[in-house]
Amino acid sequence: MNIDEKTNLCGSIAIKQSNLGSVMHNTAYGSLGVNFLYMPFTVSDCENAVKGIRALNIRGSSVSMPYKQEVIKYLDKLDPIAKEIGAVNTIVNDNGVLTGFNSDWIGAMEALKEVSKLENKKVIMIGAGGAARAIAYGLKINKAETTIFNRTKEKARYLAKEFHLKYGGGINEIKKVNDYDILINATSVGFVPDEKDSVLSLDEIKENKIVMDVVINPMITPFLSYAQKKNCKIISGYRMLIYQALFQIEKYSGKKTKFKVLEKALLEELK
Ligand code: ATR
Repeated sequence: MNIDEKTNLCGSIAIKQSNLGSVMHNTAYGSLGVNFLYMPFTVSDCENAVKGIRALNIRGSSVSMPYKQEVIKYLDKLDPIAKEIGAVNTIVNDNGVLTGFNSDWIGAMEALKEVSKLENKKVIMIGAGGAARAIAYGLKINKAETTIFNRTKEKARYLAKEFHLKYGGGINEIKKVNDYDILINATSVGFVPDEKDSVLSLDEIKENKIVMDVVINPMITPFLSYAQKKNCKIISGYRMLIYQALFQIEKYSGKKTKFKVLEKALLEELK
């Protein structure tokens, strides 16, 4: 790879970084043969990081925890969907004009649609944080019949109301529900270093459902391994991650890349 004065620098801003974004983006740019480079930045000051994006003319940046909401006030424009979700995970810099997008919801919907249609499906989602908001938006526009549960009940109630979805209650109340097609963990439970935890126990997961986890690392969380034991079809969070990255790569470089190209690189990294 040639790095020179024409290289388009892209990046990611987060309080804690992993190699996953870098692996996907740099693999894609290499395979597309474009002069792009992706660099993860560990950032403790979101406002100054956005000033850095402007000053260095960084072409695009992912935004991760905990800046997806805060970053909005430092941008020039906001895509209407990102506005409705209330979170930005993608910044595009067009000649100094910074626009915020959300590709998390796209990633989640693409991953779900690989295994099921969504219209009129009964979905149970656990969580009411940033990831849950993006998924709630996607489920709403795909006309799924969604019920939201969360540890802090008030947050679930509020999110359900905002997106015209149903409120289910606290996590304990899920075991009373039998009649659903898709179960989604949109909480951070199960993420390294808490990789031994699951938001539901084996007994609380019903047989023969579709079960998705937003957690990326480990690829098979305890939640998903319980679901496998219950003969469920599972969707690992890494598939969402790839689909949302495909959107970003196209926004930054104007070029489409293939799911399989990113999957191969990512699975190598997650091994
Ligand atoms: P993210 O952007 O990853 O969604 P977040 O906005 O901090 O992160 O939201 C984290 C979600 O995980 C919330 O739904 C949170 O529940 P609360 O609203 O009750 O805090 C959920 N969560 C985190 N740790 C949890 C735990 N140990 N048990 C149950 N839910 C948990």
